[in-house]
Amino acid sequence: MDTQVRETVVTAPPAQEFVPEAQVRERLTEGREIESRSEMSQSYYDNLVNLLRQQADSELAGGIGYVPWIAKAPNIEEKLIVAQIVKDEMRHAKACYKLLEGLGIDVDSIIAAHDYTMRVQAEGAELGTQRVSDDKRVNMFYYTIDTWTDFIMFNFCMDRAAGHQLWDVEHSSYAPWKRAIAQIAKEEVVHIHHGDTWVRKLALDPATKAEVQAALDKWYPRTMNIFGRPGTKRNALYQQYGLKQRDNDAVRAAFKAEVEAVVNEVGLRMPEWVADWENNTTPERFGA
Ligand SMILES: [Fe+2]
Ligand SMILES: [Fe+2]
Repeated sequence: MDTQVRETVVTAPPAQEFVPEAQVRERLTEGREIESRSEMSQSYYDNLVNLLRQQADSELAGGIGYVPWIAKAPNIEEKLIVAQIVKDEMRHAKACYKLLEGLGIDVDSIIAAHDYTMRVQAEGAELGTQRVSDDKRVNMFYYTIDTWTDFIMFNFCMDRAAGHQLWDVEHSSYAPWKRAIAQIAKEEVVHIHHGDTWVRKLALDPATKAEVQAALDKWYPRTMNIFGRPGTKRNALYQQYGLKQRDNDAVRAAFKAEVEAVVNEVGLRMPEWVADWENNTTPERFGA
């Protein structure tokens, strides 16, 4: 398995088009948002592009991963719901790539250069916080969704995790992203609700309780890993730029509290989670 990170070459505007770093810092200190590339420093631009790539690539890989579940969903109502979710994720991807295009990024080349259908096939493979391709998707989107309960748990865990991360974007200093995120966040709430409804239904039925617990045990720890390490320098910089509002650990804690409330309500058990970085010295690759 290739665990190396290969940076994608992006088409960035020439350095002289950027404003000095001090000017951006002053603007942000005054509480003024950023509307266009001409108001950015090189560093603000690079960090913004990195975060937008993470979201765009995740939305695209996520939508593609859901496609087989249109055919495999248990009834016509659910096939339509899954199809709607796929359409939502594709629209989210398009919205994010459009923002990148507006920043001078050659989006078509990025999409053509990556395999968004790629998944980790090895039985029982757990990635922790590792990335295994050179796109910037959140590493949850490397896992295969093998059963309908997996699909449900993906809505329950991953869409919820995305929702918590999007809350920070709703307060972003980059105004075009903030505007785009309003509708995206509403649609993610619908996806989360779909997961919640099914988790309740499956957990309250003695015939399916064990299966939904097993799916939770599988997907919850994977999701806990996506938020990144606590107290990273990169996260501090994102916060200084107003591109994130909270430390990675605070976002993770908010996600965990919400999951715990549902889990307790329906009589499931919270899975254990040990931070990947407690167990190994893998260099930080993702989610920072
Ligand atoms: Fe989405
Ligand atoms: Fe979603």
